[in-house]
Amino acid sequence: MLIIHGPNMALSGSREVDVYGTATLAEIEERCEREARELGIEIRCVAHTSEGAIIDELHGARRAFDAVVINPAAYTHYAYALRDAIAAVNLPTVEVHLSNPQGREEFRATSVIAPVCRGTIAGFGPESYVLALRALYALHKA
Ligand code: DQA
Repeated sequence: MLIIHGPNMALSGSREVDVYGTATLAEIEERCEREARELGIEIRCVAHTSEGAIIDELHGARRAFDAVVINPAAYTHYAYALRDAIAAVNLPTVEVHLSNPQGREEFRATSVIAPVCRGTIAGFGPESYVLALRALYALHKA
C-alpha cells in the first residue's frame, strides 16, 4: 500500500500541536510500519508539498500498489486535479486526517476528495492511518 502525506504534514509534531498532536511524521510512519508488519503487507510512505508531485505519485502507483492511504492536507478542500487523479487511477483509496476537519473552520467541512475515496477516517491522530491500513487490508482480503 502507498501512503501519501500532503503539504505541511512533514512538520507534524511541531505545528499546531493542540490540533494535530505531538507525533512526528517519522513516528506516524513507524506506527504504520508496525501495523504493516502485523498485517504482513508492504507499505511505502511519501510526503509531497505540491499537488503535481502527489498526482505524479498516484500515476506511478497504478501498477505498483494495491491501495492508497492519503492525507491530502489542505488540498482536501479544493484540489480538483488531485480528485480527478484519484478517480483516474482507480485504486481503492482512503482519505485520512489527524484532526477532525468537520469540527473545525467552515472551509474544512468540504472535501472534494472524499467522493472518489472508499471512505474517510479522521480525528484519531496517527491511528487514522492505522485504521485505514486495516480497512484496506480487509477489503483486499474479502
Ligand atoms: C489535515 C486537515 C486539513 O484540513 C489541514 O489542512 C491539514 C491537516 C489533518 O490531518 O488533520 O494540513 O489533513
